[in-house]
Amino acid sequence: MLAPMQGLTNRAMRALFIDWVHPDVVFTEFMRVSNVSRKCLKRSDLKEISSTRGNVPMVVQLVGNNGKALVAAVRNAEAVGASHINLNMGCPYGRMTTAATGGAMLRHPELLTELIPALRAATTGTFSIKLRAGYDDPEQIFSLLPLFENAEVDFLVLHPRTVTQKYSGTADHNITERVVRETHLPVITNGDIRTAAEGRRILRETGAAGLMLGRGAIADPLLFERLRTHRAKEPTEAETSAMLHRYLRDLLTRYRELFCG
Ligand SMILES: Cc1cc2nc3c(=O)[nH]c(=O)nc-3n(C[C@H](O)[C@H](O)[C@H](O)COP(=O)(O)O)c2cc1C
Repeated sequence: MLAPMQGLTNRAMRALFIDWVHPDVVFTEFMRVSNVSRKCLKRSDLKEISSTRGNVPMVVQLVGNNGKALVAAVRNAEAVGASHINLNMGCPYGRMTTAATGGAMLRHPELLTELIPALRAATTGTFSIKLRAGYDDPEQIFSLLPLFENAEVDFLVLHPRTVTQKYSGTADHNITERVVRETHLPVITNGDIRTAAEGRRILRETGAAGLMLGRGAIADPLLFERLRTHRAKEPTEAETSAMLHRYLRDLLTRYRELFCG
């Protein structure tokens, strides 16, 4: 899966990945769900949602904390074609943490007891959650698994760092391996996958249902291809250079269209 990345994985970037390397699943950037506005999703968000391409499933990611507003946003998103909804419970930055949305939701797990089943019930297609291992305790996820299972969440995407850790240190895929053992829910694992060899090792050692690529894919879209074709060999410097030229030229053409020249 191509990771959701705010400011990056807009419809131009997603289309580039789909045309080049056909990820099995792509995600939108997170869409903020307003607790106050009647129109819970912005017009620009609705445009992103209606821009699915080819036959690659696109997951619409929402960030918010108000049950009613989130349920309304799910309906809003489904009305313009969304089939897969994801709740962001991992983002460690800015407004996300002050308003107890994103990763800060893990600081208030009591709020999740009603919210998660309500979102599952409101979503016609799949409903998944993307989260960190915990707010400041990497073991926190284990206490949340029964809630996710009882709510019949379709799958989890785990970035095994804590929220307070932000991007420091490394993703601890031992946590992923334990989560996979403990739950029957499919777990997609994410974090610090930069080479095909590493991706394959993590998949094998954790038993995860799949991988999600973020920064590694942005640096090198062909990582998807190397993982899929089981070609462990990393590209030479000349191959990387040629790929980057082609990548940036292609992206520039697509950005000209998206951002009106
Ligand atoms: C620039 C940037 C923007 C991001 N935006 C989002 C986002 O909108 N939603 C989300 O769930 N995660 C977001 N993330 C986190 C990534 O999806 C991913 O979980 C994280 O980067 C770890 O994976 P990686 O090591 O493969 O990059 C973002 C990360 C980066 C670097």
